Amino acid sequence: MSRTVYLNGEYLPEEEAKVSIFDRGFVMADAVYEVVSVLDGKLIDFDGHQARLKRSLAELEIGNPLADEDYLTMFRELVSRNEITDGMIYLQVTRGNPGDRDFTYPPEDTPQTVVAFTQSKPGLADSPAAKTGWTVITVPDERWGRRDIKTTQLLYPSMAKMASKAKGANDAWLVEDGKVTEGTSNNAYIIKDGIIITRELSHDILHGITRAAVLRFAKEAQMKVEERAFTVAEAQAADEAFVTSASAFVMPVVEIDGVKVGGGKPGNVASRLREIYLDEMRKAAI
Ligand code: PDD
Repeated sequence: MSRTVYLNGEYLPEEEAKVSIFDRGFVMADAVYEVVSVLDGKLIDFDGHQARLKRSLAELEIGNPLADEDYLTMFRELVSRNEITDGMIYLQVTRGNPGDRDFTYPPEDTPQTVVAFTQSKPGLADSPAAKTGWTVITVPDERWGRRDIKTTQLLYPSMAKMASKAKGANDAWLVEDGKVTEGTSNNAYIIKDGIIITRELSHDILHGITRAAVLRFAKEAQMKVEERAFTVAEAQAADEAFVTSASAFVMPVVEIDGVKVGGGKPGNVASRLREIYLDEMRKAAI
């Protein structure tokens, strides 16, 4: 069945949704995006994703074409029209179509391009991988310097994902100056002696919406959190490791560059955090 997708105010069959070859999103990756998960037909942490969308747009001086309520209505409409129970909504806003290729930004009144579509993932929260955990490799972080902006420049993360696949792993952790920045599309954590350690927020990593919620729940549960960078060796010697993202939620990591972490099984803390995160976020879903 063809999906109904959203393009600039219209709901269209996916085959009919067309964007110009001159769109800045296409020729310059001049675009930002968000991925919002859907569980039981409801949106997980819509407000968090909206806040980051607005921040990404503002950092790049791209106008925001819609109000929060319009995004909410559109997301719900897509979920309903595509009968999504569990899955994701992908939203992209580009600087629009200047009608030609040019390095300078187009005039401010150039309308932004807004695209959104759903991805159906039945049983998203019951992923079997959460019970066995992910294996990761490490690769140098060769992305640009503003990773806090959620742009569609995803070629390097995509290359890193392919490198992990070639080695039979689930993902890659990116390493800069000897320290882990984050995963290809998730934030990275280790646990040592009961302390949850994850890199502090800066321009070096994406400010994960799942990260914010998980750290909040961890603190509420009296767990200790240390926001600082860690090395690969420290991660390999940790008691547990895990990653977070809107689509993987809290995913245990059980092997880093062939070295088993925590005996090669998902740890108690990561598994508990996953449970708390899913319970709380389902309750707050809209
Ligand atoms: N990726 N770091 C990077 C580089 C990411 O691309 C993502 C999300 C995260 C986690 O952010 P959040 O918790 O807000 O999803 C961290 C999305 C899921 C994606 O590109 O599909």
